[in-house]
Parts: sequence; structure tokens; C-alpha cells
Amino acid sequence: MSAVPPVTTKTRAAPEPGAAGHITIDGTPIPFAAGQSVLDACDAAGYYIPRLCAHPDLEPAGHCRLCTCKINGRNAAACVTPAVNGMLVENSTNELNADRRTVLELLFVEGNHVCAYCVASGDCELQALAYRLDLIAPTLPYLWPTPRVDASHPDIYLDRNRCILCSRCIRASRDEDGKTLFGFQERGIALRLNVGTKEGLGATTMDVLDKAASVCPVACIVIKRDSYRVPNGERRFDKTPIGADIEARRKAPKP
Ligand code: SF4
Ligand code: SF4
Ligand code: FES
Repeated sequence: MSAVPPVTTKTRAAPEPGAAGHITIDGTPIPFAAGQSVLDACDAAGYYIPRLCAHPDLEPAGHCRLCTCKINGRNAAACVTPAVNGMLVENSTNELNADRRTVLELLFVEGNHVCAYCVASGDCELQALAYRLDLIAPTLPYLWPTPRVDASHPDIYLDRNRCILCSRCIRASRDEDGKTLFGFQERGIALRLNVGTKEGLGATTMDVLDKAASVCPVACIVIKRDSYRVPNGERRFDKTPIGADIEARRKAPKP
């Protein structure tokens, strides 16, 4: 039985135009629009907050906790915290980045991640965040799980060795594709992604053009015969670190 996170709203609400107030991110005041989360407001102003489960086209879920900031003195996930006038947000601190490294380390040791042999290397948000946050190598023991690889679909395979349980595919399938093909099964360390049929992804209505096929931050949902269309060395994070596109908004000269 799959457990699908509860729906909050069908599609992500667009922020209302115009500044509703200001928050302060690492000492700098920035405007926010009504309806924006702390993470959205910081993105718009060019301040990158690390994240893995947040995606600009999907409702936030607050699953990964990578975006945790100190907000008005208390730790809170920036992706699910609405911006409120006068908020004080700490993001780039040694303490928060150390916590983020710990979360990343747990993700690495709870799955099977061998970047050198992975089709997503250079295009993977987990790998890119590890580089950005200076996680050189995990110090915790690897758990070496043995999850099932599902290659039953003609155009897509599912490699649960890489899954970080971010729920992006669940939200995309449910809210954007209207299919609800994915869910979570079991709990705690046994939690895993489920496609609702023991025959595998090939027995579902999953299509290569579905939103759910394109939102995975790692190499768990992979389009077959497409992995090396962009060669190594030319991929998203091969030349610039993750978050550089957001930070470029801050550095861009005002028109
Ligand atoms: S999914 Fe990302 S972190 Fe995992 S092995 Fe592939 S490149 Fe490395
Ligand atoms: S398959 Fe990808 S998108 Fe879905 S939960 Fe796993 S890591 Fe996230
Ligand atoms: S990005 Fe906020 S909890 Fe994952």
C-alpha cells in the first residue's frame, strides 16, 4: 500500500506582484511578494539556500531539511516557511552547513552512490550539493542496501539505489500529471519508493513526457537511451556549482 503525502493545493500559487515587505538574509534586507516562502524570496533576490526536495514547479514538501535556516532564532525549513515582514534569516553559517553535511552524508550512506560510474554525474543535485558544501567523503558506515532496479518500462528505468526519497516524483505525478503513480512504502530506514504495482513501472501509464520523468534530482528516474546526450564535462554542474544560477541574479547589474 503506498502512502501519498496529503495534497495542500493543486498547483503552486504564484506570488502576488509587488513587495509585501522585507526579510533579512544573512544581514541583507531583501523584498518578498505576498505568498512567497523564505526560500522563494531568497531565490528571487539571488541568495541561494541549499535544497533537495524543493523544485520550482512543485508544491513544497519540507522533506529533506537541507533548506533549514535559523529563522527568527529557531531552525525551520525555508521552503515551507512563509516570508513575514521583518523576519531575520540566517543561511550561510558554519553551524547550518555542518548540519547540512550530516544530512547529505546520511543520504549517501543509506543508498548506493558511486558517482564515477553514474549516468547523472555532473547533472546530479546530491553530488553537486556535496561538492558545494565540501563533503569530501562520508565518515559514517555504508548500509549497502539492495533495492530493486525496475527496468520494466520501455523508455524509463527506476534505480532505487540512488533514490533519496525527496517525493518530487510523487508530487509531480499527482499534481502535474494527474496520475498518482508513485508513493512511499514502509517507514523509517525501510522507507522506499513504490509504483503501486508489483509488475513495475512498465505496467503503469508512466510516459517519458510526464513531469514526473524529469524532476528527479538524482539518477533514480532515468530516461533510457538519453543519459549521455549531454556529455560529461558539459553538464549542469560540471562548470558552475549548484546555486550559481540563483546567485547570478544578485550579481546582475540592475537595468
Ligand atoms: S545519483 Fe548523484 S550522488 Fe548518486 S551516484 Fe549518481 S551522481 Fe553520485
Ligand atoms: S525517484 Fe527521484 S524524485 Fe522520486 S523520490 Fe526518489 S529521488 Fe526523489
Ligand atoms: S528543500 Fe526544504 S525541506 Fe527540502
